Amino acid sequence: MVVINNAFKVGLFILAWTLTFESQLAGAAEEEVTADQVVTALEGTFGINPGERRNHTKGTCAKGEFTGTSKAAVYSRSALFSGKPVSVIARFSLAGGNPKVPDTTKNARGMALEFALPGGNLQHITMLNTPVFGAIQPRTFLDMLIATKPDPTTGKPDPEKIRAFKATHPDNLAQAGFLDKNNPPRSYATSSYFGIHTFKFINHKNKVTFVRWRFVPQDGEKRLTDDELKSFPANFLEQTLIERTRKGPVRWDMIVSIGEPGDTENNPTIMWPTNRKEFKAGTLTISSAMPQKGAVCEPINFDPLVMSDGIAPTNDPILLFRSPAYAFSFAKRLGGI
Ligand code: HEM
Repeated sequence: MVVINNAFKVGLFILAWTLTFESQLAGAAEEEVTADQVVTALEGTFGINPGERRNHTKGTCAKGEFTGTSKAAVYSRSALFSGKPVSVIARFSLAGGNPKVPDTTKNARGMALEFALPGGNLQHITMLNTPVFGAIQPRTFLDMLIATKPDPTTGKPDPEKIRAFKATHPDNLAQAGFLDKNNPPRSYATSSYFGIHTFKFINHKNKVTFVRWRFVPQDGEKRLTDDELKSFPANFLEQTLIERTRKGPVRWDMIVSIGEPGDTENNPTIMWPTNRKEFKAGTLTISSAMPQKGAVCEPINFDPLVMSDGIAPTNDPILLFRSPAYAFSFAKRLGGI
């Protein structure tokens, strides 16, 4: 009970901080979309599940470790790349606020990682299995939620509203097209996950390098076939991951691309050219997985702006917006709301 009370206080503190952050934003631009608006829209579209995440509600916890390479240490002084193993708490998930969304749904899958660095420092990496995101700024994300809200009479989104949304939001099309053309993975273990945003690596000499990263599965990329999409049950991803880890560790290589002049820093809807210089920055090893209820990943807020010295954000408006949005969802669920 004491833990819940303390956790609730932390939640309230974050909420207060979020509101302060937003009033500063509101001062800068009257029309700014707020985190409150977006989290309320998530609730409007998917309903409220008290105590649960407002997005990526359905998920599975996992544990493991990460070992960085000496090559990565040339570009970033983060303790993540010290070469020593650091322990990791992971959460795999499906996008959206529906806790019962079928695992065959053609929406995004998520991989969220919390790295425990020496001295109590943390690094978060929170990714999707799509190389781009479906919004260049928060307004598009908000408008998508409003357009996909089920009509109370049919219980389904109004196709006309979705058509109008697509026609007016071209920045949504690249991710939507990727999800349409690529079936979902057969297992959380057989998917790549992309950082999507551009980040800065800062090394011991304070040299800044613009990077993007992805985690590539050593089990290979395996997607459901069209027949499996129709025949697979609603819940298989969690059990498949638990069984896979019982056979032995599951690994991903962290691959980093180095940006070149002209590569976008602030637009997560555009991929960088595929011929960028790349290197392996480390290996993630997941050794066990378990249902999220009461497990280690459940209470974590995988805020993507929790970073260690040596890794820093760019001014990508989506990346910067995520932090207050996650704080809103986190504060509500910690309070049992
Ligand atoms: C406007 C942009 C976005 C908004 C408003 C948003 C909002 C949210 C919210 C409210 C949560 C639940 C937080 C919690 O209660 O702990 C969440 C979870 C998540 N989001 Fe986002 N998100 C956005 C963009 C992205 C992007 C670009 C990525 C990937 C690069 C991403 C990946 C994830 C993942 C993987 C989770 C699940 C984290 C976990 O397992 O706890 N999101 N998002």
